[in-house]
Amino acid sequence: MIRRESDIAATQRNLTRNTKYVFKSQPGSLYALFAGYMWLKMNLKVSQNFLEFHSLKVILDDIANGTREDIPEFRQYVNKFKSCGYEVIGYVRKSHDNEDKDTRIRLLQSMIDKLFERLLVDKIYVSPMSHAGESFSSRDVKYDKTVLRKLNKAEGTTQDLLSYVNIAKKICLVGVDFGGITTNCDDLRNLLSQNKSIKKIVIDRSPFGKSINIYDRDQMLDGSQDISEFNCRKGPAQRSK
Ligand SMILES: *[C@@H]1O[C@H](CO)[C@@H](O)[C@H](O)[C@H]1NC(C)=O
Ligand SMILES: *[C@@H]1O[C@H](CO)[C@@H](O)[C@H](O)[C@H]1NC(C)=O
Repeated sequence: MIRRESDIAATQRNLTRNTKYVFKSQPGSLYALFAGYMWLKMNLKVSQNFLEFHSLKVILDDIANGTREDIPEFRQYVNKFKSCGYEVIGYVRKSHDNEDKDTRIRLLQSMIDKLFERLLVDKIYVSPMSHAGESFSSRDVKYDKTVLRKLNKAEGTTQDLLSYVNIAKKICLVGVDFGGITTNCDDLRNLLSQNKSIKKIVIDRSPFGKSINIYDRDQMLDGSQDISEFNCRKGPAQRSK
């Protein structure tokens, strides 16, 4: 604040000097005009930042309340995130099922490709074999490394993601359905409170004809955004509703 005021004073001093020099004949009115212009310019910059923040918030409200199933529109939101300095990271998780390894790899690859294509994520981390309720810290600690090697465009496992969020600044984590991220609310809270760079979580349920929800870290942690929905996955029946 203090610094800004002294900046303004300095600018005004410079202005006065310059204006007097250039516009000797009518210093008063021209000075006022120029000062007014500079003032406007300064304030425009401030309000531009405010607008950027504000429009992002509107978007978030919009999606959080809403039933946005429109992928092109969602892509605009993703671009908005990116322009606000977010890194948009996809997360693909696959449960222990009875399929063979090749089938698992094929299914994971198809999930990865779809997420890239649909939601324009920057990169994707994978949990090749974990339970939806399993804690993030124990996921993929022991996993079959050949699976990841055979996947195209997979950045790493859950453990690699946890290392990455340590050095990243602003992350928007994107998963398909709640179970794609976690069904364990306590562990979700742990993840968020211990890893401050995860600012937003996007849950895409548009493949099941439902909305794309955006959750905000602070609002999830202070309870103003309800995370109990993460707990409500009741298996495939719910998906087909
Ligand atoms: C969306 O939710 C916000 C609060 O999260 C609320 O202020 C706003 O009125 C809601 N908008 C609609 C259209 O329901
Ligand atoms: C991030 O969250 C995970 C899961 O809760 C935790 O294991 C990890 O230690 C956290 N990272 C940091 C830097 O605290």
